[in-house]
Amino acid sequence: MHFQWYPGHMTKAKRQMQEDIKLIDLVIELVDARIPLSSRNPDIDELGKQKARLILMNKADLADEEQTREWSEYFRNKGCFVVKVDARAKAGMKKINDVVMEACQQKIERDRKRGIKNRPVRAMVVGIPNVGKSTFINTYAGKACAKTGNKPGVTKGKQWIRLNKNVELLDTPGILWPKFEDQQVGLYLALIGSIKDEILNIDELSLELIKVLKEHYPGILASRYEVNEEQEPAELLKQIAQNRNCIKKGNELDYSKAAALVVDEFRSGRLGKITLEFPGN
Ligand code: G4P
Repeated sequence: MHFQWYPGHMTKAKRQMQEDIKLIDLVIELVDARIPLSSRNPDIDELGKQKARLILMNKADLADEEQTREWSEYFRNKGCFVVKVDARAKAGMKKINDVVMEACQQKIERDRKRGIKNRPVRAMVVGIPNVGKSTFINTYAGKACAKTGNKPGVTKGKQWIRLNKNVELLDTPGILWPKFEDQQVGLYLALIGSIKDEILNIDELSLELIKVLKEHYPGILASRYEVNEEQEPAELLKQIAQNRNCIKKGNELDYSKAAALVVDEFRSGRLGKITLEFPGN
């Protein structure tokens, strides 16, 4: 799902989020494990500051495991609970219930002191488009998808999914807008395929990818495309075009075809488990 954001959209999304957040105890924020910073909007820190926070490093199947561990530590140091998941393959789900309870321990304790027993924890899922919110809700809710319907007064118009006796989930995710004003963020979002390809320069994208691979994942390009990694990214792209027979009419090298090939192989995981941004950089 691709989104075009305008200031009006953002104001509306923010207002909606402010309303929804009032109803919940826990914000479950999905980020893309390959770009954990660029795939989030830090406004959520302000919007959810009174709430328990769980960050899910989604698409962990495509990301560098060592970096996912480091990023998890980074978010934990900011006071969030963190779990890595692969929402599509349903990996990491079992752990989530326990972490949800742990994250909401203070609220449960508060309720208990006030004599309120067995009130389920309420949570909502948030994230920028394409991070996997719907996939996650479907996977997490699974068969427990029995909707609890509207609750008069408090949650008018809202649907809650009762996950188990302890947790209820708002059935529609909150959509956060990416920080596209930052060019590097735009580039990373484009690389993971969250921005329409037509509006991008695929050559530029592939050069950025080649740069990251050369620096952080030496050997990947050499073994996949039989190129000499010592060269500059543009020269590398040329060699990839040659080695993969990317030729256009008139027997000229087709750089864009080679660029699309590399980007596509990265997105599908064929280049391996790769993270594009690193904590502390
Ligand atoms: P959204 O609600 O946040 O907008 O995201 P959505 O669930 O629609 O997921 C966006 C894309 O990401 C989907 O792929 C989905 O299958 C994929 N996805 C979600 N979670 C994971 C994950 O943990 N790992 C991987 N590898 N992919 C994930 P799509 O290409 O749009 O659709 P399809 O290929 O599933 O048909």
